[in-house]
Amino acid sequence: MSASGLDSEVVKATVPKAVAELLVKSRQRVTDHGEVFTPAWMVEAMLDLVKEESGRIDSRVLEPACGAGNFLIPVLVRKLAAVEYRYGKSEFEKRHYALFSVMCTYGIELLPDNAQECRDNLATIFNDFLGVGESDVWARSARTVLATNIVQGDALVMAGPAGRPITFPEWGYLGKGKFQRRDFRYDALTQRASYEGTLFGELDDDDLFTPAKTYPLMTASQIAEQVNEQ
Ligand SMILES: C[S@@+](CC[C@H](N)C(=O)[O-])C[C@H]1O[C@@H](n2cnc3c(N)ncnc32)[C@H](O)[C@@H]1O
Repeated sequence: MSASGLDSEVVKATVPKAVAELLVKSRQRVTDHGEVFTPAWMVEAMLDLVKEESGRIDSRVLEPACGAGNFLIPVLVRKLAAVEYRYGKSEFEKRHYALFSVMCTYGIELLPDNAQECRDNLATIFNDFLGVGESDVWARSARTVLATNIVQGDALVMAGPAGRPITFPEWGYLGKGKFQRRDFRYDALTQRASYEGTLFGELDDDDLFTPAKTYPLMTASQIAEQVNEQ
């Protein structure tokens, strides 16, 4: 295990090969949507170029054409490897930081089946990591997060299928089992003058951009009960 908590062999072994190697679904979809997925070896090589960032639990990663999650799956795997390394000895911290890892993973995908497949793939990684089933409260809280973080929409016009502006939750883990959620419009985030490539980078209370919605502090089980509004 490296100092950052990442071991590339462990990471590679954890990425589901069946998911990673399904590169084309049909010729028609390639023609219509440019749908060719990136092979696992190339994803890993690209993530290695930003190794520090891709292995940090709290780095917020957005894939604006995420497909079934060929980038987001290994991003989550790297985050979870860091969770195991830093918090593996405490079941409480491990669970909360594993959920926070999902909270820091974002995607936009035009096609509804790909968006759902991406959510399912990420949910499977999370559930396997914690050793929980779909009905467990942790699995359900991750599902709530994925329903808001992996958006079906058009990244170019920054809108969902009904033309509604895409919003993303900025999640924070405040410790002691409490999470914070504030929703921001994606178009506002990308137009920020100080935008430097991270989804909520440099965001502070003095910002001109106010949240579209602010939620009260929540526990994982309260998140599990939350109704998804996106
Ligand atoms: C070339 S594939 C890449 C998928 C994934 N990023 C990967 O590397 O495996 C492009 C994906 O972007 C989606 N897509 C195409 N146009 C899009 C748009 N305007 N907004 C969001 N997603 C889009 C397609 O449906 C497809 O799943």
